[in-house]
Amino acid sequence: IHPTAKEGSRAVAQEIAALIKAKQAAKETCVLGLATGSTPKYLYAELVRLHKEEGLSFKNVVTFNLDEYYPIEPDALQSYNRFMKEQLFKHIDIPEGNYFVPDGTLPKEKMKAYCEEYERRIESAGGIDLQVLGIGNNGHIGFNEPGASVNSHTRLVTLDNSTRLANGFEFPNMSQVPRLAITMGIGTIFKAKRVLLMAWGSHKAKIVRRAVEGHYSDQVPASLLQQHPNCRFVIDEQAAQELT
Ligand code: F6R
Repeated sequence: IHPTAKEGSRAVAQEIAALIKAKQAAKETCVLGLATGSTPKYLYAELVRLHKEEGLSFKNVVTFNLDEYYPIEPDALQSYNRFMKEQLFKHIDIPEGNYFVPDGTLPKEKMKAYCEEYERRIESAGGIDLQVLGIGNNGHIGFNEPGASVNSHTRLVTLDNSTRLANGFEFPNMSQVPRLAITMGIGTIFKAKRVLLMAWGSHKAKIVRRAVEGHYSDQVPASLLQQHPNCRFVIDEQAAQELT
């Protein structure tokens, strides 16, 4: 628990930087799983600062993003492909071809094969060393909404109405909020060697409590992380205020 979101984000950035450097020293690739949304914005700003001011290199880094709306063009304002370029990729020295964000433009009949290929790419990169997560108000991780299976893999899913409402501010009106998304599964997230879930602000306090102190249940997807061998929640004091 950190006093503020900025301090928590700096701690996560330090942990990521240490992992990247350890992998560099061992001449290995560092595979990161990344999230979008408001939660990781400070984290990405801090990673960009570490690159620009402290020479942190991302040349040995490969990244896989959790999710993307479907359908959506990669240059649409709300696209997670665009978000990642603007918040992180265009400011650092990660080689083009080393970052993967699900493609929201493919026809539906190609999605199954594409999602299987996304899983294979993660595997052939060596698996995710560190997965960054946020948490939805309904406990979703990635876009794995309540009821998602622990064994789920990358796939096309239907967004909950509560998620569409929460993300609606990004779109001109509710009817334009996509009903579908591509997301890594809970099973995909579980294969990550280390998981860091971040949550900031009092609006996340109730769901953080249910995820950490509530029952292990697929009705609160983040509570399933209780069974992950190396998972930590990195939260600020406001998000911690309901914990007992
Ligand atoms: C985004 C993602 C989502 C968000 C969650 C919280 O890639 O996977 O699970 O982490 O919806 O969103 P924010 O951070 O906007 O509160």
